[in-house]
Amino acid sequence: MTTRTKTQKTGRATGRATKQTAGQATRQAQPRVGRLIVLEGIDGAGKSTQARLLVQRLRQAKVPCLFSHEPGGTAGAEALRELLLHPPRGGWSTTSEIFLFLAARNEHVRRKVRPALEQGKVVVLDRFSDSTLAYQGFGGEMTPRARAALAPILAQAADGLRPDLTIVLDLPVSAAGRRIGMRGEKRTDFEKRGTAWANRVRRGFLAMARHGGITARTRIFAARRYRVIDARLAPKEQSEQIWRAVRPIVSQRR
Ligand SMILES: Nc1ncnc2c1ncn2[C@@H]1O[C@H](COP(=O)(O)OP(=O)(O)O)[C@@H](O)[C@H]1O
Ligand SMILES: [Mg+2]
Repeated sequence: MTTRTKTQKTGRATGRATKQTAGQATRQAQPRVGRLIVLEGIDGAGKSTQARLLVQRLRQAKVPCLFSHEPGGTAGAEALRELLLHPPRGGWSTTSEIFLFLAARNEHVRRKVRPALEQGKVVVLDRFSDSTLAYQGFGGEMTPRARAALAPILAQAADGLRPDLTIVLDLPVSAAGRRIGMRGEKRTDFEKRGTAWANRVRRGFLAMARHGGITARTRIFAARRYRVIDARLAPKEQSEQIWRAVRPIVSQRR
């Protein structure tokens, strides 16, 4: 089975990991041959910019790839994106917001991401499950216990998929704010939540990169699958660093 071969090679499969959640059991029942690369970070950190540069490099290297973003990527998920980014008067509770994001993710994974992985493609995603933990979990000041309770639900929404590599673009909130200003687009509801909130989100991403997101018990696995990039650097330098991290993962693809 391809998934098992890959996990043996990278030393990722452990007894602990196979027992964790129903979502992970789903993953093992559905082998895939592609690779999932996720870009994470606060708004304005440069995810869209770096995703575009990464896809360019993959295409130059003749690696079949798919780029997509969250929330969205399918008709249903884009409809949910509209509801999330432009909420009705009164907004959503944190819990409602989480479930809307998860519904969008599940549609996207089942209809688009997993089929591409099964065709052997490298899928580059602008945001995935860690964004939910960073924004709603850390930004929304959920307790560590509440965040832990969310983990199996996140795994189920992601249909058991876990990234082969998560790149966290790390940028001070003030610098990200200036970049969003320069982008010249109307700010979304999320971009208006303020500096303290954005700082919690940033710290959340860094904590996950250090301790391992939704797989908090498997630190070795977590350390392998994250790469933090200093997003203050010029786009080209960041793109070089990202490519150095992505290339070995892509070349292991079968
Ligand atoms: N390394 C960089 N240095 C300076 N400006 C950047 C850099 N990377 C991206 N930008 C600019 O900052 C803005 C936000 O970048 P973007 O890729 O849209 O971030 P995100 O997708 O994470 O919200 C854009 O206008 C982009 O052109
Ligand atoms: Mg973007």
